[in-house]
Amino acid sequence: MTVAPNIGLSAKHRSDIASGLNKVLADSYALYLKTHGYHWNVRGPNFQSLHVLLEGQYTEEWTALDAIAERIRALGELAPQGYAAFGNLSSIKDGDPEQDWEAMFNELKTDNETVIATLRAAFPAAEAAGDEATADLLTQRLLAHEKHAWMIRATLGGK
Ligand SMILES: [Fe+2]
Repeated sequence: MTVAPNIGLSAKHRSDIASGLNKVLADSYALYLKTHGYHWNVRGPNFQSLHVLLEGQYTEEWTALDAIAERIRALGELAPQGYAAFGNLSSIKDGDPEQDWEAMFNELKTDNETVIATLRAAFPAAEAAGDEATADLLTQRLLAHEKHAWMIRATLGGK
């Protein structure tokens, strides 16, 4: 009896897809942490609306972390865990609570764009394997982060 996955995807494909998802998970976790931290530390005359906007975003991001990690597990790979593992995989840096709200929002715009780029980079491995389930998850995360980025841009006065 074998306990290896037999889900219509080769070991090489599953490993390649999981590599992309590992980075998606690490970047998503780093952005979640920063968004939650800025929810706490943001200051200014529009405090309430900024605080609530960030709460909506970090809650959405937090919920998605589990779906991303469990997709990696469903592919038969182990999900990265812990600050050191995420730090090595992610290019998103910790936030600075001393910054003013505009600097925080500019950073969150860039960080959402980083997650979007990481998501786009993960697509080819899923598509090459015909892995529609992972492609669907990546699509859902793209929709969410593109929406987050729009709301952050609009708060900053941009389109
Ligand atoms: Fe809160």
